[in-house]
Amino acid sequence: MGAAAVSERTLVLIKPDAVQRGLVGEIISRYERKGLAIVAMDQRTIDASQSDAHYAEHVDKPFYPGLREFITSGPLVALVLEGDQAIDVVRQMNGATDSRTAAPGTIRGDLSLSKSENLVHASDSPDSAKRELAIWFPHLG
Ligand code: PPS
Repeated sequence: MGAAAVSERTLVLIKPDAVQRGLVGEIISRYERKGLAIVAMDQRTIDASQSDAHYAEHVDKPFYPGLREFITSGPLVALVLEGDQAIDVVRQMNGATDSRTAAPGTIRGDLSLSKSENLVHASDSPDSAKRELAIWFPHLG
């Protein structure tokens, strides 16, 4: 018997490096081919306060000023993806945070060689998905 199906929604950001490099279509295509549904999608450029809200648990970390500079540097694409166990599935598809060591076959492992400019963000738990979805797409409820 396999694990029971659990439909979830997760928040994905296709970060400014991916937009600048013209990789949005490639990345969305991977999620679609996997079978995830796009519930919402919006290209935005965020400011420092929006970055602070999204990365609330990291604002005091030494790397955060650089992360804020990067995430506010240009347009990104925010997505809500839905599917069976979508939160874990998308994290696995994205690969390890440091693209240099992310496994081949993952988005970061195949398309990036940078620790900080790592193409994508995805919610890492049901609690973070709930919090991030409320920040980015409050109208979805
Ligand atoms: S931690 O401290 O272990 O919780 O941090 P981690 O989970 O590795 O990363 C949290 C988010 O911060 C980003 N990050 C960085 N950005 C820029 N520069 C450096 N050095 C750096 N280290 C971590 C990392 O990509 C995570 O962001 P998201 O958007 O979730 O990928």
